[in-house]
Amino acid sequence: MFDIQITQVEIRRMRPEDEQNLPFGSIFTDHMFIVDYEENLGWHNPRIVPYQDISISPAAMVFHYGQAVFEGLKAYRTHSGKVLLFRPNKNIERINLSCERLCMPQIPATLFFDGMKTLVDLDKDWLPKSEGTALYIRPFMIATEPHLGVRPSKTYQFMMILSPVGTYYQEGLEPIKIWVEKNYARTVKGGIGNVKVAGNYAASLKSQSEAQKIGYAQVLWLDGIEKKYIEEVGSMNIFFKIQGKLITPILNGSILNGVTRDSVITLCKQRNVAVEERQISIEEIKAAYDQGILEECFGTGTAAVISPVGELRLDDESLLINQGEIGDLTSSLYDTLIGIQTGQIVGPAGWSVEI
Ligand SMILES: Cc1ncc(COP(=O)(O)O)c(C=O)c1O
Repeated sequence: MFDIQITQVEIRRMRPEDEQNLPFGSIFTDHMFIVDYEENLGWHNPRIVPYQDISISPAAMVFHYGQAVFEGLKAYRTHSGKVLLFRPNKNIERINLSCERLCMPQIPATLFFDGMKTLVDLDKDWLPKSEGTALYIRPFMIATEPHLGVRPSKTYQFMMILSPVGTYYQEGLEPIKIWVEKNYARTVKGGIGNVKVAGNYAASLKSQSEAQKIGYAQVLWLDGIEKKYIEEVGSMNIFFKIQGKLITPILNGSILNGVTRDSVITLCKQRNVAVEERQISIEEIKAAYDQGILEECFGTGTAAVISPVGELRLDDESLLINQGEIGDLTSSLYDTLIGIQTGQIVGPAGWSVEI
C-alpha cells in the first residue's frame, strides 16, 4: 500500500460554466498526481499537488530518445451522483505493455489505481453535470534522467492529470469523413504501433494535418509495407458492417488493443451479432461498397466512444457509406456504451468501477 501525500490548493479555481462547449483537453483541474522512480529505490514519494508546471532537466532523456507512454480514460457521473470509471483495469494492463516495449518500469496496479481514485475523488467537483460530459483522465510516464546517449533512462516520473470534457458531438452523433492514407505509414509489425507511446502520434501528425486541410477529420492507416490491409484510424479502431456481419482488423501486433473495440466485440457477441476479427484489405471494402453490401462503418475510442463514418476517401473516389447516415447498429452500440458508462444500463461484470 502506498501512502499518498496530499497538498491541496489554497483557493480552488473557478470551474467552467458552459459545460456543453468545453473544448477537449485544454482545461485542467486543481490537482495532479506524481510519483517518482529510481532504479535502486523503485517507485517512491507518491503525491497529489496543485496542478502546476513541472521542472525538468533539458537533458532529460524523454526529450531526446522519446521514452514517453500514456493512457486515456474517462470518469462519468451517474444520475444519482456517483462517479464511475469504465474498465480502468484495461488501461492499467495497457500502460504496462507500453512500458515493457519502451524498457520503462512497470507501474504497480495498486499505485495506478490508488493515485487515480484519490485524485478523481479530490477533484470530482470538476466532473461536469450535463448529459454527455465526463472527466478525462490522462495518466502518463516519462524518462527523466539527465543523460545524452541512447539507452533506457534510470529515472522516471509517472503523473496523472484530469480534464473536464463536453459532449464530443455537440450537435448529436454525426458521421465523419475519413481519408485512406496511401503514402505515409504510422508503424509496421515489430514497431510500436500496438502500444500507446507518444512517438506514434508524432508519426501520424503530417498525414493527419494534410487530410484535415482538405476536410477529412482523420486518416485510415493501411499496413506499412503493402499499404493494402486496414489497420486503424488516428485515435480509433475501425469496424465495418458487411451483410449483417461486423468485421474489424485482428490485433496483428501493429494496431492498438482499444478498450472500446473490445467492449463493442463483447456487446455484439452478447447480442448474437456475428463479429470477425481478421485481416481486411481495402480492396475488399471497395468491392463490398461496389456491390452495395457495405452497410455501416464506425470508429471506436475513448474520446468519442463511437464515431459513425459517413465517407471513406480512397484515392480519387469517395465511398459514401449508408448515404452518409448513421447506421442502426452504430447508434444502438453508442447508446448502449454511453448507458453503461453513465450507469443507466448494467454492463458486464467489472466494467463499471465506482470511485
Ligand atoms: C491509435 C489508437 N487506436 C485506437 C484507440 C482506441 O482505444 P480506446 O478504445 O482504448 O480509447 C486509440 C485511443 O486511445 C488510439 O490512440
